[in-house]
Amino acid sequence: MASIIEISGLTKRYASGFEALKGVDLTIEEGEIFALLGPNGAGKTTMISIICGIARATGGSVKVAGHDIVGDYRGARDAIGLVPQELSTDQFERVIDTVTFSRGLFGKPRNPAHIEKVLRDLSLWDKRNAKILELSGGMKRRVMIAKALSHEPRVLFLDEPTAGVDVELRRDMWKLIGELRETGVTIILTTHYIEEAEEMADRVGVINRGELMLVEDKAALMKKLGKKTLTVVLAERLAAVPAELAEWDVTLKGDGQEIEYIFDTQAERTGVSSLLRRLGDLGIGYKDLNTAQSSLEDIFVELVHQEKVA
Ligand SMILES: Nc1ncnc2c1ncn2[C@@H]1O[C@H](COP(=O)(O)OP(=O)(O)OP(=O)(O)O)[C@@H](O)[C@H]1O
Ligand SMILES: [Mg+2]
Repeated sequence: MASIIEISGLTKRYASGFEALKGVDLTIEEGEIFALLGPNGAGKTTMISIICGIARATGGSVKVAGHDIVGDYRGARDAIGLVPQELSTDQFERVIDTVTFSRGLFGKPRNPAHIEKVLRDLSLWDKRNAKILELSGGMKRRVMIAKALSHEPRVLFLDEPTAGVDVELRRDMWKLIGELRETGVTIILTTHYIEEAEEMADRVGVINRGELMLVEDKAALMKKLGKKTLTVVLAERLAAVPAELAEWDVTLKGDGQEIEYIFDTQAERTGVSSLLRRLGDLGIGYKDLNTAQSSLEDIFVELVHQEKVA
């Protein structure tokens, strides 16, 4: 696959002195769906704003479809469609006008057939003569996507496409994004939701505090996320982990009252039942058991911890 976006050593320091990006390197392949995951304030919108020419980088370089975003801004911007995190459009304008106008902003010749196709693809054709203020929230979001696609970009950025959107609409959005990819558009989306990345992305990047902590194929990331923690609440405190439990990687928590065991849900044998059996054999009683799925947050903690150790 050919790369369509090349980001190298990208840094951003805001006027306040805050370092929002600390040297990001990333290559996006043409035709893929890339999900950028990260907590609030991680730097996702900052990164997108720089690539789209809305904010200026402090250092590093970005090329979009071979065009440098500074040296050849026009060439780079023409290749990009952006659906920003904050939706804003003239409430009194008609759907078809605002989408047609967006195309004009890129200096592209009128192409009613393309506008019609975009509106039909987004199930907005019936609403083409409605004013924006007459639309539901989900329809407004689709209008923003239609505007971003109006000039036939090769890359589409969706900054939190499903934030504050109900479950059903989120599923519709996922379906729609999948269909857009079928048309050959490269899609980069940001999200807080791991299930969103799981559902759609080919690759996932995790950004935290301005640093890209990992970039992986979805399958590999899901494997990491497939870990669960079993907590065994003991009937009586233990002073130390008994030697007989050495074959399980357990730790003593809660002042010796709990045993914690982290296991891989996708492994053939999780080791849970054998651990419980061994506890029984040893006469170690327990009052309660609970399991928790490791979250994106756990991955962050793990990554940050690894960094400190390294
Ligand atoms: N114009 C600005 N001036 C100063 N600091 C800014 C500015 N814009 C963003 N920041 C800071 O940069 C950091 C990254 O912000 P950014 O909007 O990129 O995060 P994000 O990952 O998109 O978060 P969210 O998930 O909340 O949208 C934050 O600490 C934010 O306060
Ligand atoms: Mg953001």
